[in-house]
Amino acid sequence: MSSNRLKEDLIESGKIGRRPPIRVEGRDDLDPKNGVTRPAGTEENKKIKDYAVRRMKEAGLKVQIDQVGNIFGRKEGYKTDKGVVMVGSHLDSVLNGGMFDGVLGVFGGLEVIRRMEDEGFENERPIEVVAFMGEEGSAFHVSLLGSLVLVGNLDLDKALSMKNDEGVTLKDALQVIGYRGDFQRDLDDVEYMVELHVEQGPVLDVEKTSIGIVENITGMTWLMGTIEGRENHAGTTPMRMRADALVGAADIVSFVNRCANEMVSEQNGTTVATVGKLNVFPNGVNIVPGRVEMGIDIRDVVEENMRNLTNEIIEAFRAVEDKYGVRTEAEVLFVHPPTRLSEEVVKTIEESTQELGVSAKRMNSGAGHDSQNMAKRVKTGMIFVPSVDGISHSPREWTNWDDIENGVKVLTQTLKKLSKT
Ligand code: GLV
Ligand code: MN
Ligand code: MN
Repeated sequence: MSSNRLKEDLIESGKIGRRPPIRVEGRDDLDPKNGVTRPAGTEENKKIKDYAVRRMKEAGLKVQIDQVGNIFGRKEGYKTDKGVVMVGSHLDSVLNGGMFDGVLGVFGGLEVIRRMEDEGFENERPIEVVAFMGEEGSAFHVSLLGSLVLVGNLDLDKALSMKNDEGVTLKDALQVIGYRGDFQRDLDDVEYMVELHVEQGPVLDVEKTSIGIVENITGMTWLMGTIEGRENHAGTTPMRMRADALVGAADIVSFVNRCANEMVSEQNGTTVATVGKLNVFPNGVNIVPGRVEMGIDIRDVVEENMRNLTNEIIEAFRAVEDKYGVRTEAEVLFVHPPTRLSEEVVKTIEESTQELGVSAKRMNSGAGHDSQNMAKRVKTGMIFVPSVDGISHSPREWTNWDDIENGVKVLTQTLKKLSKT
């Protein structure tokens, strides 16, 4: 009964931002072309926030929205002087993503509270379910936005003035969807944070392990590169008279991939780098491309590697200028450093898995998470459950319901312990 309640939340919220809005109850229901699309500040983002707020209120939580649209649902504890335990994740998605990324952590956290109520468990510490705003960076070009502001690493006004691809500021977008709140949440009274998430990689699935206990979260740099060439007629412009922005971009795409591969083989390392976004202007078959914008994602658990690769890529942009007669710019949008999570929380999760007899292993996260920001201010841990075939940021993302139940059991046990320590 209790697991059906969470399953229903995931299936219902999984309709939001999906076209058509079908109920996906099993892996066979997935449409490999149509996932969920709910970037921060969109109508679809509003719908899933509304759904989560309603479910939090139905569970008796006091819901408050802060100035960047983070949602907090609070259950009081019976000892008023003890620091809060936060639990949660995010509700926004990448373009055409999966139904569990982020959402599992929010509704999983809510389910823990409902189970505590059912069992009459008395938490000493207050527990707050948090749904961070704009984790993916798919609208406002900075990932982990809500938690960055919450921990004080990004100025509120600067965040609110950021613009999406339509030129709308975050402030206006939040106003339109009704999530520009006035709650001012500082973290001085928060002791712990726990995030349940799908692994989004293949390790747990391949190794048939139920739970990943995250020790380190990868660092992440986003670089936005622009190449300005000369837009011209594809038929009449001789090859030697072109300044083709896309040809320059092609060099960068290969360079990024080659360089990351070389770093991995030289150091047996963990670097990954991706050119995931390319806007070509004017994008016509018979026009020499005049301008290309490229979004580049660089990650490692070793910060020096991220820095070195970023510098090499910036150099590569300069090299393209001379080679093709184009102008370039490369701007670092943000750097999230690699983060070590709290050993105390890691051990508490580990004990919980042992008590429940659930297989588990310590591991690192190659995906970014709001927990890496939270870890700067409060003792933070993450629980992973397997992703089938290691697929995520894709409509084919899937996690089996039994694995979700294991994750929620471990989360419940962990929160019970932390809420009494
Ligand atoms: C967030 O999901 C990221 O790792 O890009
Ligand atoms: Mn994601
Ligand atoms: Mn996520």
